[in-house]
Amino acid sequence: MADKTKLAFVRTFGCRANVSDGEKISGMLAALGYGFTRDMNAADLILFNTCAIRENAELKVFGNVGALIHLKRQKPDLLIVVCGCMVQQAHIADKLFKTYPFVNLIFGTHVLHKLPELLREVSQKKRVMNIDDSIHSVIEDLPIRRDTSTHADVPIMYGCDNYCTYCVVPYVRGRERSREPQDVLNEIRGLLRDGYRHITLLGQNVNSYKPSFAELLREIDVLECERGEFRVSFMTSHPKDLTRELIDTIADSKRVSHHLHLPIQSGSNGVLRAMNRGYTVEEYKSIVAYARERIPDISLTTDIIVGFPGESREDFEHTLSLLQDVRFDSAYTFIYSKREGTRAAEMPDTVNDETKSAWFTEMLGVLDGICETVYTRYVGKTLRVLCEGEGRTGQYAYSGRSREGVLVDFDSDDTDIPGKFVNVKIDKALKWAVTGIKE
Ligand code: SAH
Ligand code: SF4
Ligand code: F3S
Repeated sequence: MADKTKLAFVRTFGCRANVSDGEKISGMLAALGYGFTRDMNAADLILFNTCAIRENAELKVFGNVGALIHLKRQKPDLLIVVCGCMVQQAHIADKLFKTYPFVNLIFGTHVLHKLPELLREVSQKKRVMNIDDSIHSVIEDLPIRRDTSTHADVPIMYGCDNYCTYCVVPYVRGRERSREPQDVLNEIRGLLRDGYRHITLLGQNVNSYKPSFAELLREIDVLECERGEFRVSFMTSHPKDLTRELIDTIADSKRVSHHLHLPIQSGSNGVLRAMNRGYTVEEYKSIVAYARERIPDISLTTDIIVGFPGESREDFEHTLSLLQDVRFDSAYTFIYSKREGTRAAEMPDTVNDETKSAWFTEMLGVLDGICETVYTRYVGKTLRVLCEGEGRTGQYAYSGRSREGVLVDFDSDDTDIPGKFVNVKIDKALKWAVTGIKE
């Protein structure tokens, strides 16, 4: 009897860079002959690709892995694998390996490409841990298995050299390194040929892409696409490296999204200094003003941390007034989480948990008030929307995103529009989306 196809269950936590790694992991597993399942109980291999950015991300993984003991008892041949940022930290990898003897393989972010080799080792030794961080090269040509058909993420660089004092990423992802422009362009050409219509370029700080991010964008902007239109967006931009040249490039482009995700983190210069962010609130506002002057319809999103060590009520109020001033399209907000090994972990944590939560709730209230009005600027306008598929809520036939990155729910009698660009006349602003009718 022929062997039944082995099934893998792959779950990725964390950011888009990690999701992109997950697509390579799935690509390598597919090349090894694995099929895929969304049902853990049906899997022969369960893999968690983890995130370390905040403590609760890690606690979730400990819980998820711990719960696998029951499955492993029923199926002793089940392979359990934990990889990604969390286990690139030696103290966590050791703890997981010791606490959960049923975990077969732990591997870090730098040896991702060795997965086939590591699985072979597991078949001989039963348990393997490899968090070697000595490999800093960019590995090209790994197989990629994407679940998406319209939108694809393309990493252009790996790692981060910024050492914001709260952040674990430089420790778990290593030094910043850029892919060769030709490799990026070739991957995008292939994706466009395969029918993808929206490409997001990924990096922790795309503005420091070498040799030049603005130049890379210009080269992508003029790529041929036989099937017509496509769109390119990117994240994340670091305010200290966002140049006027880049803003001009976006303004002059045909295909670059009019959206900037520009994390400010705090509205207080003292806190920004303690975070080692490398810009002041005034510098931030000045680059935003330039972006809004050159690209009037630009949408702007940000990240904020509350409760950083030493943050005072006054600092926090500066953040609130910054939010009122800049009026972001949306803001992702986080309570500061102490990460072992970072510089902020050595700073006295002066804000107690109760205050952190109270500030966090207060800030959400302020943001809610802003978001209720911010999207009204689109009402009455026509937006160019890439239809991503059927309506996400059921209330509208389709959903998609505009060039500004705004979520658009819309109706149309046409049936063949998923994956296509259409014009949508906007009639209503919701909190996180707008609605309309295809013209
Ligand atoms: N490279 C990107 C962000 C990566 S992490 C940048 O620099 O903008 C995504 C967000 O998580 C950060 O912008 C920050 O707001 C948040 N974050 C990172 N470390 C954190 C920590 N220790 N506690 C709370 N939030 C954190
Ligand atoms: Fe972390 Fe700062 Fe690097 Fe972003 S830029 S990944 S916040 S160290
Ligand atoms: Fe991303 Fe989390 Fe790692 S945010 S880079 S998966 S620590």
